[in-house]
Amino acid sequence: MEARDGVSARDLMQPGRGIAYDDFIILPGHIDFHYQDVDLSTQLTRRVRLQLPFVSSPMDTVTEHKMAIKLALLGGMGVIHYNNAIEEQADEVRRVKRYENGFITAPVVLGPGATVEDVFAIKERYGFSGIPITEDGRPDGRLVGIVTNRDIEFEPDRGRPVSEVMTTDLVTGPAGITLQEANDLLRRSKKGKLPIIDAEGRLVSLVSRRDLLKNRDYPLASKDERKQLRVGAAVSTRDEDRPRVEALVEAGVDVVVVDAAQGDSVYEIDMIRWIKATFPDVDVIGGNVVTRAQARRLIEAGADGLRIGMGPGSICTTQGVMAVGRAQATAVYMTAQVGRAAGVPVLADGGVSTIGHMAKALALGASAVMMGYMFAGTEEAPGEYFYDGHGVRLKRYRGMASIEAMAAGGDKRYMTKADDRKVKVAQGVSGAVTDKGPLDDYVPYLVQGLKQSLQDMGVLGLAQLHEALRDESLRFERRSSAAQLEGGVHGLYSYKDSGLGLRSK
Ligand code: IMP
Repeated sequence: MEARDGVSARDLMQPGRGIAYDDFIILPGHIDFHYQDVDLSTQLTRRVRLQLPFVSSPMDTVTEHKMAIKLALLGGMGVIHYNNAIEEQADEVRRVKRYENGFITAPVVLGPGATVEDVFAIKERYGFSGIPITEDGRPDGRLVGIVTNRDIEFEPDRGRPVSEVMTTDLVTGPAGITLQEANDLLRRSKKGKLPIIDAEGRLVSLVSRRDLLKNRDYPLASKDERKQLRVGAAVSTRDEDRPRVEALVEAGVDVVVVDAAQGDSVYEIDMIRWIKATFPDVDVIGGNVVTRAQARRLIEAGADGLRIGMGPGSICTTQGVMAVGRAQATAVYMTAQVGRAAGVPVLADGGVSTIGHMAKALALGASAVMMGYMFAGTEEAPGEYFYDGHGVRLKRYRGMASIEAMAAGGDKRYMTKADDRKVKVAQGVSGAVTDKGPLDDYVPYLVQGLKQSLQDMGVLGLAQLHEALRDESLRFERRSSAAQLEGGVHGLYSYKDSGLGLRSK
């Protein structure tokens, strides 16, 4: 019989030998379409659909509202971390849900009694002037004026109250106007800022001339039925986090991610059951799991999506410290089969450091990829940039089970009861990653790379990819260590790495 190229995914997975993304390769298919026609839309959970299979990790150096807003605008979704007070996390969710492209929904405001000095301080801290003045100094107070650069530029008395220098001849827009209408008003008024107010004269938002020029349209944005951006939020498995779930639902969260390093526990099952019984309209992602039995138990408990991975994270030391976990490619393949049979999508979480890893996770049945490392170091990740001794621009990135993050509350993911926390065993490290720039530039790069990868496989989209996985027309091969060397750069005296997001070791 004539030999057949490669093996099916099933045959790739030999019993007893877990494999990582780098252990195998996908054989090319036939190309009869342009890569731009590749469809990356996918199902994140039973009910939430995304245009891109990218989700950012609930980690305090990865996802707060800035990351979640921009990722949702671009077609993915962010999951807000819970290393914070309940109200803080709910507020992060609210910021995403209230976000309207082009409208500043929580502008910095001052009260009439504030001084010129306060305006200078804001200007220095945030780099902008043009500050709305409300009656009571609250962001949703009645608008009484606006202080711009011109009002204070030559003011010698910095102690003067803003009420004496502010502009009261205001051009405002009514709540509910479209960005287009707001932009027209701004253009005609020749002002720098356009406050948007409701019928009672209360401030709703602000449109800035500076933003006008850089406002992009986001046709792939992940939105709910009310046209608000989608956002996820993580909670622990503990009973004491039930009020957290309530606050998140109240804030409008779309997906609750029940977050535990080992998700197959009675605590997590109880939590999922409780959320599904109390808030049937909210989708729940359970995890993390890596075996078929674990996946089945969380699906039985009611999970609408599964998060897969134990130990592959770039900042993770779990497998070494705990001796428990699974190689990620095997974990994704095994659980995705169980998920598929039940109509529950799986999210491959951790261990992705190249576009190729994403493609492999999806090719093994994952519906979306959750990433910490890939999004850490972008402009939208929390934290400030800093420079190392060689002038390289960096941002902090740390595991939620690093000693530093645990000290700030991150150990909820690893300990099931509050009083377990006296002794801390770290399962993660704290480090730094290089600057990846703004998501507006970075995500299109990931998208194009992934589309080209699927084109090379000869599949027109994620649905076709999963079909080819099932009918075994998608072929795989193991890579020997020599094959891995051969597939990397070799033999050169020196070279500059411009690879697909490869990290230097
Ligand atoms: P990365 O994308 O490879 O950086 O992995 C990110 C994933 O690692 C997260 O989504 C979590 O599932 C997991 N993770 C986060 N913090 C820790 C930790 O401290 N130890 C182990 N795993 C972690």
